[in-house]
Amino acid sequence: MIQTVATQPFTDQKPGTSGLRKKVRVFQQPHYAENFVQSVFDSLDGYEGQTLVVGGDGRYLNREVIQTVLKMAAANGFGRVLVGKGGILSTPAASHLIRSSGAFGGLILSASHNPGGPDEDFGIKYNIGNGGPAPEKVTDAIAARSLAIDSYKLFDGPDVDIDAIGSSLLGGMTVEVVDPVAGYADLMASLFDFGAIRAMIAGGFTLAFDSMSAVTGPYAVEIFEGRLGAPAGTVMNGTPLPDFGHHHPDPNLVHAKILYDRMMAADAPDFGAASDGDGDRNLIIGRHCYVTPSDSLAVLAANAHLAPGYAAGLKGIARSMPTSGAADRVAEKLGLPLYETPTGWKFFGNLLDAGMATICGEESAGTGSDHVREKDGIWAVLLWLNILAVRQQSVATIMADHWTTYGRNYYARHDYEAIAKDKADALMAALRDKLDSLPGTTNSGGVVKSADDFAYTDPTDQSVSKNQGVRILFTDGSRVVFRLSGTGTEGATLRVYIERYVGPDGELGLETEVALAPLIAAAQEVADIAGYTGMDQPSVIT
Ligand code: G6P
Ligand code: ZN
Repeated sequence: MIQTVATQPFTDQKPGTSGLRKKVRVFQQPHYAENFVQSVFDSLDGYEGQTLVVGGDGRYLNREVIQTVLKMAAANGFGRVLVGKGGILSTPAASHLIRSSGAFGGLILSASHNPGGPDEDFGIKYNIGNGGPAPEKVTDAIAARSLAIDSYKLFDGPDVDIDAIGSSLLGGMTVEVVDPVAGYADLMASLFDFGAIRAMIAGGFTLAFDSMSAVTGPYAVEIFEGRLGAPAGTVMNGTPLPDFGHHHPDPNLVHAKILYDRMMAADAPDFGAASDGDGDRNLIIGRHCYVTPSDSLAVLAANAHLAPGYAAGLKGIARSMPTSGAADRVAEKLGLPLYETPTGWKFFGNLLDAGMATICGEESAGTGSDHVREKDGIWAVLLWLNILAVRQQSVATIMADHWTTYGRNYYARHDYEAIAKDKADALMAALRDKLDSLPGTTNSGGVVKSADDFAYTDPTDQSVSKNQGVRILFTDGSRVVFRLSGTGTEGATLRVYIERYVGPDGELGLETEVALAPLIAAAQEVADIAGYTGMDQPSVIT
């Protein structure tokens, strides 16, 4: 019953920032998904008889690829596969399930915040036994194997019913269809004071959570409306749809505009939040008060001890390099180590495993802790709610108080999307060429203090990651960072991260664009963005 199917390599299966992401039509080519899954299995050692977790964000192709994975796992000798009912597992819930079941690893089927549907995106990501994204040595091995593969193994059996909870056999392998929500909701209840949040909501505190027709719907309904007693309807767009209702499940100010407008209205709820396609990102908006992801990380780190799961304090804080330095100020004040890593959650895994950091965050709307090894949208919302329940203050008051204590890191990210790859590469190459000549020069942003291409040495295993983004640092502590996105599926996306720090005694109430205008001009001057891309405006500002 085990077939060995001959195949030929595809040359485009190197995993990016977060697994292999391609258009659905690319994944639909004969052997495409199979080649990648076999390349993953071939890059692993010792999984025979072990457990694999599989699930995804419910997007188009999710169910088909789950059946493929089940048949390939059976043929390759896994002992057991745990699959979320209906093929559903949010990324943080998958991470938790891998950890709590002692699984060897997991395959998460998602293209995160990218749109879904027959003409949109799909993705496959492998997570290791700690529940986190595979580190670069594993993804490099997968990439190398994908270029040499000549066959894959498939169990020739019927499709498994993944809509009924229970166990069945596929060849010699057990398939267990599990409740995707319950274990995760229990984990959340163990970290946060659900009683206090419940009492706050019962006392009239109002919230809105936008699941964006993506995976968090069932989790949010169970936790916010079920366990915390928020009224029905608190969760918007709570049914996962294969095409996310034609929306772009990216919780930013452009794609979550309906929520944003609601939070800015006269009758806005006290708290609004959204999560992305696979449930690992978060957007936080207080009543009339948007919180940037970098600020959110800083506030959560400064107040985490108010939640039972973090009452003993933090071991350290980690952020990706382009994330603002707001969390650094908190770490300094709390006497905690602060780690600056390259972009990509995978870089936090070693720090969390080593007990060096407790809370991590990224400007790309990801925040999380050592409770799993992925960022976690609902976790971030619950930590905010727990803090609000204890402090009994509005989000706006908490933000104002934070800036008065630590100062404010004005911050914005400008994205130039779908530019030709050669143009984007040329822009970055030109920037890299002039790094040595920039220090000491003056432009609209001020005097350049230093300029470099960020490199990271992992303090736990000394592995080195180079070329992680060009940084231009000014003498007043401001900076502009340039890097190319590693998650797009069309052309290239240039990201420009702009940051200016103002101390507690400075001007804390400026409009962000006003505060950043000189640095935005400096980015144009140094990188000639308009010249290379032909775009005089970014496509998205977050
Ligand atoms: C994914 C990863 C994040 C990372 C982000 C960066 O969402 O899970 O950890 O921050 O990609 O995306 P980019 O498009 O900037 O490479
Ligand atoms: Zn995501």
